[in-house]
Amino acid sequence: MAAFCSVDGVLTPEADAVVPILDRGFLFADSVYEVLRTRDGLPFAWRPHIDRLRHSADGIAMTLGPSERTLLAEVLRTLDASGAGHGDERYVRIIVTRGTGSAPSIDLAFAEGPQRVIVMVRDLPAGRRRAPCRVALVQRANGFDPAIKSGSYLPNVLGLAEARRRGADDCLFVDAHGMVTEASTANVHAVRGGELHTPPIGSGLLAGVTRSLLLEAAAEAGVLVVEKRIPAGEVLGADELLLTGTVREIAPVTHVDDVAIGSEHPGPVTQRLIRAFDLVCARRAQLDRQDFSELGLV
Ligand SMILES: Cc1ncc(COP(=O)(O)O)c(C=O)c1O
Repeated sequence: MAAFCSVDGVLTPEADAVVPILDRGFLFADSVYEVLRTRDGLPFAWRPHIDRLRHSADGIAMTLGPSERTLLAEVLRTLDASGAGHGDERYVRIIVTRGTGSAPSIDLAFAEGPQRVIVMVRDLPAGRRRAPCRVALVQRANGFDPAIKSGSYLPNVLGLAEARRRGADDCLFVDAHGMVTEASTANVHAVRGGELHTPPIGSGLLAGVTRSLLLEAAAEAGVLVVEKRIPAGEVLGADELLLTGTVREIAPVTHVDDVAIGSEHPGPVTQRLIRAFDLVCARRAQLDRQDFSELGLV
């Protein structure tokens, strides 16, 4: 399938899509975004993603211009234009920038708007789903509040680059207090003594949609969840370690730096969580359909 985009409502192949150089997203990362995937051809976990987009916009003093219905309609139109058929699963990125400014100045006085809305539709990256990975512990550089999914991802870009240089697939960020927070585009969870330990919201991480589906799955699977800060040293002694994110879903971590944690195969607790996660996701997809029909769109 060709990668396809909508830029301010104009549908175009991704290769032809452009934004003006005075776009504030391009100049200053003055933008927010969401990444979601489709399930059965429809946007998955729409409500939590749109809520997070609004939360992120609030976090950069921006009131989302387009309504939820307008955004969903544009996502569906772009999926359709991309030739996505039933059962073809897609990666969807929604970007809202503060729009084209009248000058390359950070001053909001020059941000005359309107906001620019971009929807990108591509194939889901191959081989990422549930793929085992090695992580490297990396001190997180200062950046924007990780709870806000703004265009300002440079600390994550550099964290991942450092991890790759050290032969790992991803980084595990460590904050100034020596606590692990999250990976470059995923949340982290450790299994210890049959419990699932996960850093709490508000401790320097993005409130992952997959993270909350995992916590629902844990409740169903009878796995006790403990939301607590996790010292870097503690992840080295975890029985099982996992990353969660929209594209990778639930991925077992096999190594932290040179320390082996698990095997290429998910451990027993992770396997139970994955089974419950599949059920939780099927239920979530039904809620999505209800949301879409309430919006009069599917
Ligand atoms: C920094 C960061 N943490 C966690 C996540 C996982 O979030 P989600 O499960 O909503 O994809 C992402 C996703 O892009 C991310 O960028």
